[in-house]
Amino acid sequence: MTKQEALRLLKIIIQKDKSLPLRDQATQLVFGVGAPSAKIFFLGEAPGFYEDQKGEPFVGAAGKLLNQNLERIGIKRKDVFISNIVLFRPPANRDPEEKEIKSFEKYIDKMIAVVSPKIIVTLGRFSMAKFLKNVKISSVHGKIYKLQLKNKDIIVLPMFHPAAALRNPQFMDSFQKDFLKLKEYVKA
Ligand code: URA
Repeated sequence: MTKQEALRLLKIIIQKDKSLPLRDQATQLVFGVGAPSAKIFFLGEAPGFYEDQKGEPFVGAAGKLLNQNLERIGIKRKDVFISNIVLFRPPANRDPEEKEIKSFEKYIDKMIAVVSPKIIVTLGRFSMAKFLKNVKISSVHGKIYKLQLKNKDIIVLPMFHPAAALRNPQFMDSFQKDFLKLKEYVKA
């Protein structure tokens, strides 16, 4: 089975899983998007209003900022993979709850295993916490971490969430600098 087929199958399995939380209030499942063999995997938090409408992650204002920064470092959106740790929109864009994140975890892990990226860029503290426990995003953003996920070596680069960058000029500065870190990593 190709990676594309494996992802298509995974999407169908998630769509059929009636036990998943948030499904009833959401318009549709927001699966991942991008290259099935991407070297870079961006992992955000949860779909917002526009993502819920379109069925694609990061298509609103935060997505625009993500796209601009990808372009700035010479990477095309279609060449990376983008998803979230929660795949249905939480009501009124509230933060995802721990038990909701847990419910999606096996599917997110499978998605990562299929794509098998070289580096996972976490966007925001919720996806960061999947890999880095008991740390503050303000101290760890922009640093490269060599970790293990399901006994597989993985590189994680935590970044601020683009929505946080849009709200706070200091975070915006860090967000843009952290993209240069990603560029350095990709070049090396
Ligand atoms: N914020 C996220 O974390 N994910 C999206 O897909 C959109 C906004």
